[in-house]
Formats: sequence, structure tokens, C-alpha cells
Amino acid sequence: MRIVLATTLAVAFAVPAVAAAPARPARLGLCAACHGETGMAQIPGAPNLAGQQLDYLREALRQYRDGRRNVPLMRAAIGPVSEADLDALARWYSAQMPQTQGTP
Ligand code: HEC
Repeated sequence: MRIVLATTLAVAFAVPAVAAAPARPARLGLCAACHGETGMAQIPGAPNLAGQQLDYLREALRQYRDGRRNVPLMRAAIGPVSEADLDALARWYSAQMPQTQGTP
């Protein structure tokens, strides 16, 4: 019984490790010009997203989409994105490892 429990726990903990490496989102191209493919900003004034909390990213994107955050650049970028794509983008950026910043 003890062995069965240990095996079950081992499997249960192995699953999130796989989920932590999300597939590259189909819509990543909409964001990369400003935030980079790996979440390090490419233009002055854009925030780095790499390694940011998943819940925070998801909520921020919803806020741009519904206008609670009224920033035209981001509203335009996230406007046509479905909820599933929004989730995939938040997961992708959250899973990226922050890099050292270059001097722009
Ligand atoms: C034209 C440049 C541009 C594009 C394209 C763009 N962003 Fe942004 N993004 C910005 C800027 C500038 C901000 C800061 C806005 C503000 O002051 O709230 C921002 C903010 C954000 C934030 C909030 C970060 C925080 O710390 O609160 C998230 C999340 C985000 N962008 C994700 C995305 C995603 C996902 C896409 C693609 C669908 C995208 N952005 C496309 C420029 C861009």
C-alpha cells in the first residue's frame, strides 16, 4: 500500500514538470516585436514578461482586452486573441527564463 501511494505521488508530481514547458503559441508573432519571443523587451517602454507570474499575466491581458487597462498598443495587440490563445501566451511567457538585459 505504501509503495502504491509513493508511486502515485511520484506520477502526480511528474505531470506539472511536463506542463511547465508549454508549446510555442500560434499567436506569439503578434507579441514578439515588442516583448521578444522569450519575454525580454525589444523596444523601449515595453515590459519584460519572462518568468512573470502566470495569474498576473493572464489577468493583465484580460484587462487590456476589456479596457480596464486602457493602453491602445496593448488593446490592439490582444484584441483579436481568443481566450485559449491568451492563456497559451500567458503560459509561454511565464515559463521563460529571464535573461540579462542588454543596453538598448
Ligand atoms: C506594439 C508593441 C506591443 C505589442 C505588439 C504587444 N505589446 Fe504587450 N505591452 C506593450 C507595452 C508598451 C506595454 C506596457 C503597457 C502599460 O503601460 O500598461 C505592454 C504590456 C503588456 C503586459 C503587461 C505587463 C505587466 O507587467 O503588467 C502584458 C502581459 C503584455 N503586454 C503581453 C503582450 C502579449 C501577450 C502580446 C501579444 C498578443 C503583446 N503584449 C503585444 C507593448 C506591446
